[in-house]
Amino acid sequence: MKVFSLCALVSLCTLTAATIYENGRERPTRFIDTKIASLGSNATAWSTYGPNATELSYKGRWDSQHISWWAAPGLKFAFTGENVAITFGPHTTNTVLVAYRVAGLDWQLSNITTNATHQFVSPSNPGLNATLPSQLPLTFELRVTNWAYGVQISAVHLAKNEKLIKVPEFSRRIEFIGDSLQSGYGATYEAFSGFGYTVGAGLGETEFSVTAYPGICLHDANCWGNPRGQTYQFFHTSDTSPRALALYNSTPPLYPFASQPTPTDLVIINIGTNDNNTANPVRGDSYYRSYLSFVPRVHETFPDAEIVLMGLWGNFVRQGNTWVQQAKFIDEVERVARELGEQGFPVSYFDTKGILQHGDIGPTFHPTDAGHIKVASHLMRYINIKFGWELKATGPEVQHETLYWNDQVNY
Ligand SMILES: *[C@@H]1O[C@H](CO)[C@@H](O)[C@H](O)[C@H]1NC(C)=O
Ligand SMILES: *[C@@H]1O[C@H](CO)[C@@H](O)[C@H](O)[C@H]1NC(C)=O
Ligand SMILES: *[C@@H]1O[C@H](CO)[C@@H](O)[C@H](O)[C@H]1NC(C)=O
Ligand SMILES: *[C@@H]1O[C@H](CO)[C@@H](O)[C@H](O)[C@H]1NC(C)=O
Ligand SMILES: *[C@@H]1O[C@H](CO)[C@@H](O)[C@H](O)[C@H]1NC(C)=O
Ligand SMILES: *[C@@H]1O[C@H](CO)[C@@H](O)[C@H](O)[C@H]1NC(C)=O
Repeated sequence: MKVFSLCALVSLCTLTAATIYENGRERPTRFIDTKIASLGSNATAWSTYGPNATELSYKGRWDSQHISWWAAPGLKFAFTGENVAITFGPHTTNTVLVAYRVAGLDWQLSNITTNATHQFVSPSNPGLNATLPSQLPLTFELRVTNWAYGVQISAVHLAKNEKLIKVPEFSRRIEFIGDSLQSGYGATYEAFSGFGYTVGAGLGETEFSVTAYPGICLHDANCWGNPRGQTYQFFHTSDTSPRALALYNSTPPLYPFASQPTPTDLVIINIGTNDNNTANPVRGDSYYRSYLSFVPRVHETFPDAEIVLMGLWGNFVRQGNTWVQQAKFIDEVERVARELGEQGFPVSYFDTKGILQHGDIGPTFHPTDAGHIKVASHLMRYINIKFGWELKATGPEVQHETLYWNDQVNY
């Protein structure tokens, strides 16, 4: 069984963002053209901040050159005035799709051009409606939607004499560790629609990083073209994408975990689907042993965190006159959680059996948007009941463009 299509053999993928297809048909999109001519002669109309301005909060993994890595990394800040533009550097993937929003309004999507300046907020932006000053100062947030492509922040511009304002970090923090499943491979807006992002954003008032990449194994082996497994790559800033290999080759920088402003309280690990594939050189006993040694290293990295190991799910196969789900390393994951728990590690097992049914997994063998939402919803309630985390999201959109309903109620 193949976990994802040939394009996911990452080295074979070309770096062009394609039209978004939904069930084989082109999906209507409303991407906004935010690109503007370089500030040029108008530069005096702007106040420009460098990428290391202390008011900027980077979410997820970014390196010292302000290049984003892994799944759905983001940038957040508040601002005065009515203009926000960002200049993207040479290490920006051309045409990468980003989501952005002002305050609690719905997300909007825009294609980014390498080396270009994009104006996301202008006086005509509805977020600036002065008759509704419900959330001030205004916050601006941006998320890269993909898991392999990224952006490089070169500068942030506000109108002349306007100020950037630091948005305080939320006190809760989650680290997601995974593969294509957490990174939303095959979901409409990829990482931005995946269950990793959906849990992190859906819980509300939570900082999170989705350190997940399609095709990657837990065990340190070359899986689907990813040269290293998570037992190695997780501790490094960059992922296993072709752009990371082009920039860092085989010596990615170690991730400076100590630089994170708040300690991590919770780690959600969902990995092993690629280890459990005959296309890759990993067997059950090496997966089990790698997992058994990986979790204590994660604990050492985040000593205050509860660590949740998610049970893996397989695809649905037709058996006679019904559908059954294939098992994937069920015993191995459950055993790692039990044995480490007995040794006193703060580890628990989240059983995913019964959450997904045939019809929740698409032809690329990954959850549909609805499948991601089901996994995320169950996981959020588990986190609420098991660890007492309040569900703090209070209204702003989390899943973008999942508004399907019957508007012909009399048919
Ligand atoms: C953004 O990129 C997509 C995919 O390449 C393309 O279909 C779309 O026309 C672009 N939209 C804009 C506004 O540039
Ligand atoms: C940002 O970088 C510039 C130039 O690299 C340096 O002069 C400045 O001190 C840095 N600012 C901060 C807040 O680190
Ligand atoms: C982006 O700018 C750099 C110089 O800063 C240049 O070397 C590079 O070719 C440019 N890339 C593109 C795609 O224009
Ligand atoms: C501001 O919001 C109100 C209420 O939704 C609306 O009636 C009004 O047209 C908006 N004004 C602008 C300038 O967008
Ligand atoms: C000049 O910059 C201001 C922001 O201060 C912006 O609102 C305006 O559209 C810009 N004008 C031109 C011609 O680019
Ligand atoms: C995947 O996991 C299942 C159930 O644990 C096991 O029977 C099967 O042999 C595994 N396959 C591979 C390729 O590791």
